[in-house]
Amino acid sequence: MWFYLVTLVGLYYLLRWYREKQVVSNLQEKHVFITGCDSGFGNLLARQLDRRGMKVLAACLTEKGAAELRNKTSDRLETVILDVTNTESIVAATQWVKERVGNRGLWGLVNNAGISIPSGPNEWMNKEDFAKILEVNLLGVIEVTLSMLPLVRKAKGRVVNVSSILGRISVFGGGYCISKYGVEAFSDSLRRELCYFGVKVAIIEPGFFQTAISNSDRHFSHVKMLWDRASSEVKEIYDKKFLLSYLSELKILLGKMSTEDLSLVTDCMEHALTSRHPRTRYSAGWDAKLFYIPLSYLPTCLSDALFYRSSLKPDKAL
Ligand SMILES: NC(=O)c1ccc[n+]([C@@H]2O[C@H](COP(=O)([O-])OP(=O)(O)OC[C@H]3O[C@@H](n4cnc5c(N)ncnc54)[C@H](OP(=O)(O)O)[C@@H]3O)[C@@H](O)[C@H]2O)c1
Repeated sequence: MWFYLVTLVGLYYLLRWYREKQVVSNLQEKHVFITGCDSGFGNLLARQLDRRGMKVLAACLTEKGAAELRNKTSDRLETVILDVTNTESIVAATQWVKERVGNRGLWGLVNNAGISIPSGPNEWMNKEDFAKILEVNLLGVIEVTLSMLPLVRKAKGRVVNVSSILGRISVFGGGYCISKYGVEAFSDSLRRELCYFGVKVAIIEPGFFQTAISNSDRHFSHVKMLWDRASSEVKEIYDKKFLLSYLSELKILLGKMSTEDLSLVTDCMEHALTSRHPRTRYSAGWDAKLFYIPLSYLPTCLSDALFYRSSLKPDKAL
């Protein structure tokens, strides 16, 4: 019985491996547009695809980021300045891409740009704090996608949306997790609509990685700023002891528990763009695979119990 079961599972993985290792043809003629290439995953992916001979159209937020990227890559790679919260900037970038891809269309669109600040306890924030993150991480993804979609459809290409394991389970307050849940929902409906046109949509769900977005010093100073700004009522409920416990939890999450090797994520993105049979979802990082994804399938009472920390219980709580 066990023998048959193990053989069956082995056969499944062998077949999956064989299917997924098949690469699309003429990669060197294909254009890929990536947002948020100044740093982190976007920057590494741009360099990785450039080395592979693909035509990379890298969108950066700043001219400095774009110049630094061009210095590290071949002449094939071109850059454009794009702020995903600005409609005019998106329209201009789309026209720029159109001029480059011509009748071939755009093979790959990677929605990678993102921010994570301000994040913190929900009650310490206001509507604008939530909107700031949603503008970039969710509405930015939606507007860039809608704008580039005719070009992607022409190439029967790929849309790769960078979500997070925090799009599966919400572990802190603010707009970040909400935005990533939104990216998951948007990608799901997009995938179902676009399959009729030969366009494939993949979602990347990294765990915690060491990039600018997860820099613990930046998060520390923002949480302290939120605390300083909070009303006296909030400060009375969540006292200084809570603030210190919250900061030390944050230090563990963004420090010790985060992964250094960003290629674990960019390899997934590359596979989604180059494999004939890309996956629908890619989880990257040991924490995503072994902790957060299994946790997201647990009954809520169990996952809540795992996150319950007596040290994080405000003194004034019941
Ligand atoms: N690192 C992680 O642990 C982690 C985990 C899960 C998911 N992710 C996701 O992965 C993606 C990439 O993040 P990362 O970790 O590589 O962090 P990162 O190094 O901070 O990269 C984010 C990029 O987005 C750019 N950006 C910010 N606001 C923008 C805007 N309005 N328009 C265009 N570009 C903008 C940033 O430009 P500047 O550098 O000039 O600000 C930066 O280049 C994000 O969507 C993030 O949510 C990250």
